[in-house]
Amino acid sequence: MHGEVEISGAKNAAVAIIPATLMVNGVCTLENLPQISDVDMLLTILQHLGATVHYLDKSTVEIDCTNVHFQDAPFDLMRKIRASYYLIGAMLGRFGTAKTTMPGGCNFGVRPIDQHIKGITALGAAFVVENGFIYANATDGGLRGAKVYLDKVSVGATMNIMLAACQAKGRTVIENAAREPHIVDLANFLNSMGADVRGAGTDTIKINGVEALHGGTYTIIPDQIEAGTFMVAAAATGGEVLVKNVIPRHLEVISAKLRETGCVVEEYGDAVLVRGTRALNSTNIKTQPYPGFPTDMQPLMGVLLCLARGTGVITEGIYDNRFKYMDELRRMGAEVQVDGKTAIIEGVSELTGANVRACDLRAGAAVVVAGLCARGRTQVEDVHYIERGYEDFVGKLSSLGANIRRVADTEAEERHGSAAVLCD
Ligand code: EPU
Repeated sequence: MHGEVEISGAKNAAVAIIPATLMVNGVCTLENLPQISDVDMLLTILQHLGATVHYLDKSTVEIDCTNVHFQDAPFDLMRKIRASYYLIGAMLGRFGTAKTTMPGGCNFGVRPIDQHIKGITALGAAFVVENGFIYANATDGGLRGAKVYLDKVSVGATMNIMLAACQAKGRTVIENAAREPHIVDLANFLNSMGADVRGAGTDTIKINGVEALHGGTYTIIPDQIEAGTFMVAAAATGGEVLVKNVIPRHLEVISAKLRETGCVVEEYGDAVLVRGTRALNSTNIKTQPYPGFPTDMQPLMGVLLCLARGTGVITEGIYDNRFKYMDELRRMGAEVQVDGKTAIIEGVSELTGANVRACDLRAGAAVVVAGLCARGRTQVEDVHYIERGYEDFVGKLSSLGANIRRVADTEAEERHGSAAVLCD
């Protein structure tokens, strides 16, 4: 693959910032919003609650939540996305009460939300989980600031507690907070709308509650994982790609690992250039919370290690079950042994095309990249997972010279409204 690719706004920032607009009186203009189905679903949920949503161009949207009111939301949509849990913090902030479903999203084993509930309970909300619904209530005196220590570093819990704390009375302190770039982005968004959030990006975040949030314009940061995906795609295909509209600092750990495999990575102001090599070396990876190696890049690096000389070991440090995609790679000739949270990968000289499926969002992107490297044709089914988080994945890859197209897949479409992609 050769050429330049423009990275879209960060999915995991957007899916928290959109629910956050629920707490704002006035118009929020969000720029650099990615065109992905998770964003579409969240905007639909807001509209259902009475928000006005108006696109100014393909990545700029005006959201006006002035006239929202508490009522049942479209629970079938909430169930499909993980980020619907941010509606708990945002609805509590806006209405003093919340009703959501247990969140959906990619299945990597059990994904509890006990730390969200623990934190928001400390702020004075009462929770009931019943029949798959979550009810939270803070009407009795409203939310009050509190000290919260997270037993597990959790992106979702950190952001959800930040949302709930924004308009709580007094000061909230979150200890052992997650430090991902999208945490800082949510804090910057909230502060630009009048909130008082300090320390985001460190493991202690302090939030002083304010009376109200006001409208404004905010530009979402570039997507670290989309950028990493194209970096790995360039590396795996032995190509040369300039990945534009990125924050190179957010990509440092990915760049470091690519260099270990023998690729060249050059950093510029808001771009990185990746030059692949036909003789990739293996390396070891352990996924950890930021600034460690991101779990969402693990399946992509898995593909690269399949094509590298020697043995590579991946240790998954976040989820119990994030190696399902290895079954798909084995169909393509990969030599992998998985034992619990460890995968041992023996590099092979080539992968071969096969019919495979996207097991989840990043696993889906990974098998597409594998298909681009493989001899012969690969058909990837269930691409609705990929479309949850990658804007125009097929178009961007094609513009870099990939031989890929999206085709109708009647069976999958009946199941999920989805399609397949063919990579030659
Ligand atoms: N956890 C708990 N209790 C909780 C919350 C989390 O035990 O209350 C555990 C999880 O089961 C997991 C670990 O803590 O083992 C970390 O989970 P975290 O809460 O950080 O993850 P998340 O908020 O559910 C977000 C992203 C994921 C990304 C993770 C880790 C969103 C919507 N999702 O999930 O993104 O993998 O952080 O960085 O922001 C993706 O984009 O493909 C994706 C899956």
